[in-house]
Amino acid sequence: MKAIIYTKYGSPDVLHLEEVEKPALDEEKVLVKVHNASINASDWHMLIAVPFPMRLIGNGMFRPKNPILGVDVSGCVEAVGRNVTQFTPGDAVFGDIFGLGSGSFAEYVSVPECALVLKPSNVSFEEAAAVPIAAVTALQSLRNRGNIQSGQKVLINGASGGVGAFAVQIAKAFGTEVTAVCSTRNVEMARAIGADHVIDYTKEDFTQNGVQYDLILAVNGYQPLSAYKRALTPHGIYVFVGGTPAQIFQSLFLAPLISKRNGRKMTSCMQKANQRDLLFIRDLLESGKIRPVIDECYPLCKTAEAFRYFEKGHARGKVVIKILEKE
Ligand SMILES: NC(=O)c1ccc[n+]([C@@H]2O[C@H](COP(=O)([O-])OP(=O)(O)OC[C@H]3O[C@@H](n4cnc5c(N)ncnc54)[C@H](OP(=O)(O)O)[C@@H]3O)[C@@H](O)[C@H]2O)c1
Repeated sequence: MKAIIYTKYGSPDVLHLEEVEKPALDEEKVLVKVHNASINASDWHMLIAVPFPMRLIGNGMFRPKNPILGVDVSGCVEAVGRNVTQFTPGDAVFGDIFGLGSGSFAEYVSVPECALVLKPSNVSFEEAAAVPIAAVTALQSLRNRGNIQSGQKVLINGASGGVGAFAVQIAKAFGTEVTAVCSTRNVEMARAIGADHVIDYTKEDFTQNGVQYDLILAVNGYQPLSAYKRALTPHGIYVFVGGTPAQIFQSLFLAPLISKRNGRKMTSCMQKANQRDLLFIRDLLESGKIRPVIDECYPLCKTAEAFRYFEKGHARGKVVIKILEKE
């Protein structure tokens, strides 16, 4: 099969299209013919091996153990192992295959069935591949860490990227009043996906205008923790999802210290794949409550170019890779 291979850590220049062996099917696995994949920050970190612990969490100390990147996948089931019960050949599926030994920038993946769910028919393969990591991250941050409740005022900082665009829509699906923070060129998009209010961060600092929120999701942006805290209601919750290394440090080590018992809470979320949450997201897709926002779709041979675009940090929604040329 064709796959994008990397045998050393580095810039997107180390990614090459090669012919490799198709992954084997065992009795616990599902062999999927991949239609689409999408790029996530985790792929980028695995590519450059920064921060350093990426080398320790299974990716190889000196060179990548798994030479094929890609964790979000959509495609059709080609074959199933003897013990697989949830899928049959021909099923259209999508899922998050992080850490399962297969990479989705390839024509086939072979993964345990718990990584996959059936694709709703109202969602294309291209759209489905844009969903798993970003949407589940948004869901787990808002619901598990942010304890989102209907009627609350929620602010999403970094609302126009992969995670942020899902966070806006999921927060709306929970019945909240959503403020999206993005730059000028994304204001219309943020309104189109359902934001009640949009703040253009190039013109206004939301931490300075005196408005307070019950829940703030920090997906992107440069505000210090003290500023976020000021923008929270007395019992509000701040959830850190992504940002600069300084923000990661602050959120992991300082946030618990400045959280108040029975007061403002500062916390962070690390997405963890699970089929139940992906099924929850599938239902939101099926009912039309959320819709993936796709910036660009690159053919497999242009994966390195797609990474260079993603690296700039200004994608509008998701960057998708097209593996199957004709569906
Ligand atoms: N905790 C977890 O488990 C988890 C899971 C997935 C991702 N993440 C992290 O979450 C972050 C976002 O991931 P992503 O996939 O959504 O990234 P992304 O798609 O690359 O984010 C790009 C978006 O960020 C916006 N942006 C850039 N600078 C901004 C700023 N100063 N203020 C507000 N928005 C800004 C850009 O909008 P403009 O062009 O308008 O600036 C663009 O739309 C990353 O740091 C990633 O590492 C964490």
